Amino acid sequence: MLARMMQVSENVASLTGQAGANRGQFLAHVAANREICREHLLLQLRVSHFPPSEPGQFVQVLCEPNAASDASEAAIAPAYPEVCWEAGTAPPMFHGPDLLGAAPYLRRPFSIAGRRDDTVSGYSEIDLIYRVIGKTTGLMAQLAVGDNISILGPLGHGFSLPQEMTTALLVGGGVGIPPMIYLAEKLRRQKVKALAFIGAQRANLIPLHITGTVGLEPALNVREFAAFDTPTLIATDDGSLGQKGFVTQALQQYCQSKPPNGAVVFCCGPTPMMRATALVAAELHLPCYASLEQPMACGMGTCQSCVIKYRPAGAEDWVYKLTCKDGPVFNTTDILWQ
Ligand SMILES: Cc1cc2nc3c(=O)[nH]c(=O)nc-3n(C[C@H](O)[C@H](O)[C@H](O)COP(=O)(O)OP(=O)(O)OC[C@H]3O[C@@H](n4cnc5c(N)ncnc54)[C@H](O)[C@@H]3O)c2cc1C
Ligand code: FES
Repeated sequence: MLARMMQVSENVASLTGQAGANRGQFLAHVAANREICREHLLLQLRVSHFPPSEPGQFVQVLCEPNAASDASEAAIAPAYPEVCWEAGTAPPMFHGPDLLGAAPYLRRPFSIAGRRDDTVSGYSEIDLIYRVIGKTTGLMAQLAVGDNISILGPLGHGFSLPQEMTTALLVGGGVGIPPMIYLAEKLRRQKVKALAFIGAQRANLIPLHITGTVGLEPALNVREFAAFDTPTLIATDDGSLGQKGFVTQALQQYCQSKPPNGAVVFCCGPTPMMRATALVAAELHLPCYASLEQPMACGMGTCQSCVIKYRPAGAEDWVYKLTCKDGPVFNTTDILWQ
């Protein structure tokens, strides 16, 4: 319901409710939607006047069945009947079938994996990399070039780069890899040395293009990271590519053999992976920032569905923080992992 209520006109410059944020709802034209590996696709969206964004920020995607191929706003209007509620009457009731229709009722969050801006035309190309696991991602997989979807963003607070950092260690697992590509691009622009640790269950679930031999040492063998001069070290749970084991073990072993003074760890992936990354970083006395992927509904601080327990250094007690609005990026020492 909330997502439907948030249906506002295309290219709203900014929505209220999030401090200092410049965000809006945009009609996004599908420029490409192609398979990268098993169950994972790259969706490239052409969007007019998309506000500035940072790695770690995300968009909320609304994808309806039969996505429209004309660019009118009506074409992406919800497939649900209008709900009228007259003052003084009982509120409308929703029942299972209303909520479990063919279309996803709520938007779904996806990290920005990259963007390219054309300052002349005002168009940006936004990359999303997604794994097909349910209703929205199933519909996204059916999108064809020329179709239109609605995105809301950019949302949340992205990664900040500490001034004193000498090296950035990027740790991405599964669908946590996409924001690391965008971060690698920013780090290259800011001339910060970076190294990416990539983890997946097995080789065919790595949503990246492997272009060279994968060994046990970091190498420029992944197209998406090599484009930003970022070597990668790959780990798979079953050993089908790169180092056998969890990506956190690869991070630990690398840091123990080559202690990276002045390094900062940035991570995104499944919660157990981020918790383990935080532990490794703490053992090595390295600062660590995680982009959390809590399940979300509104994505903008209204529904309170994405809380985490948070206790910053020095605080006596913990408080709840909203992953969507206060995060998704947090200093891992402030998180009380569940
Ligand atoms: C900030 C953020 C960034 C994200 N970035 C990406 C991304 O770049 N690429 C990507 O593929 N996915 C990303 N995700 C996860 C993505 O939002 C979910 O996979 C998506 O909601 C699935 O939608 P669906 O309708 O296809 O599946 P649904 O039908 O909604 O769900 C299918 C199953 O997945 C479970 N599920 C849904 N969301 C999550 C979640 N966040 N964590 C654990 N289980 C979940 C559901 O409980 C259900 O069992 C991100 C999530 C967050 C919060
Ligand atoms: S998803 Fe609604 S408050 Fe965070």
